[in-house]
Amino acid sequence: MKTTTLMAAVAAGGLLATFSLQAAKIDPNLRASAEALFDPVPYTAPVPDGNMVTPARVELGKLLFFDPRLSKSGTISCNTCHNLGMGGDDNMETSIGHGFVAGPRNSPTVYNAVFNVAQFWDGRAADLKEQAMGPIQAGVEMANTPDKVVETLASIPEYRQRFQEAFPGEESPITFMNVAMAIEAYETTLVTPDSRFDLMLKGDDHALSAEELRGLETFINKGCAACHRGVNLGGENYYTFGVQEDLDESIRPEGDKGRFTVTNTAADEYVFRAGPLRNIALTAPYFHSGAVWDLREAVAIMSSSQLGIDLSEQEIDDITAFLKTLTGDIPPVDYPQLPVETLDTPRPEL
Ligand code: HEC
Ligand code: HEC
Repeated sequence: MKTTTLMAAVAAGGLLATFSLQAAKIDPNLRASAEALFDPVPYTAPVPDGNMVTPARVELGKLLFFDPRLSKSGTISCNTCHNLGMGGDDNMETSIGHGFVAGPRNSPTVYNAVFNVAQFWDGRAADLKEQAMGPIQAGVEMANTPDKVVETLASIPEYRQRFQEAFPGEESPITFMNVAMAIEAYETTLVTPDSRFDLMLKGDDHALSAEELRGLETFINKGCAACHRGVNLGGENYYTFGVQEDLDESIRPEGDKGRFTVTNTAADEYVFRAGPLRNIALTAPYFHSGAVWDLREAVAIMSSSQLGIDLSEQEIDDITAFLKTLTGDIPPVDYPQLPVETLDTPRPEL
């Protein structure tokens, strides 16, 4: 309903051409298949196991997410590679970390990451708190140590107070684990509900255009939805990247064996988590290699590599149009004022 009203308002202003969406009515059968496969992004994410999502914890996690002093150099924050103003990723092929060195993989978005079954392209972290401990220590990311992170935060009075408020009753609340817990609590707020696709799922029969509806139908009927389903249209399970057709080395680098490094099972060579497709229009370049900048091309590669079929140009266009309806409402973020350091705060090391 919301979209229809908006369109009427836009049409009245004579701007329909720039808006270009021609709403069509969804077929009840297509609606039924879509409702069986996908869920809308909820306004509030479930509370992660073993954590508490209190305002004090979320606010602390937000400061930590934006604080470059968690890195050895004092220049790299989570937001550097998961820029909340750029779709929650860095729009680089592979991320640049400590010493301006490029890492091996593309940065996935933090938006809606809380709904993924496990974190990273290969699912090696069970949840967001385990995940957050990775990049702070990774040599190609923030290159820091847990001890130095704790020493840095403990040297800053405002952080000492905020950790006490966020972890009440704990004797020495500034721990590396609590850093990760606070960041996880903050990340549960990074959800993007009410994409046009979700408005459709929630009952608006006119939320999508004819082209987008054809794209949705093709996405389901040709088999994309077998791997890309659920809330995030992906992020739920693991599949060989190139199950039907080997991929070019530039797209699937030979040295990155995916889940094989997690499970050590031969069948897991080149197995990766199905990419979550929420906000996909904002997060180019694509794939764990970041080798593909054009969403249309990513769709064409998926059809040959994962389904072993060649989609027509029209089908590729339709699916691409459908994928663009997955862009949700990004929550507004006020850039936080970070607590000021003291003379005891460890100095940046380049
Ligand atoms: C130097 C860039 C860089 C920094 C800094 C960084 N990340 Fe990442 N992040 C990445 C890359 C690259 C991946 C994917 C790595 C992989 O799959 O092996 C990733 C993966 C993730 C994921 C998993 C998302 C998913 O869909 O699986 C989350 C969540 C995340 N990072 C959060 C954080 C947080 C929180 C911080 C700060 C503590 C942080 N990152 C710092 C680059 C970075
Ligand atoms: C057999 C399972 C499977 C099928 C079927 C499948 N995909 Fe994928 N998809 C994956 C996997 C696994 C990845 C992650 C690849 C990687 O490692 O980069 C992925 C990644 C993607 C990405 C890139 C995500 C990102 O953030 O970079 C897009 C876009 C995509 N798929 C769309 C589609 C479309 C459209 C179809 C149907 C034509 C489809 N997929 C069919 C498993 C599948």
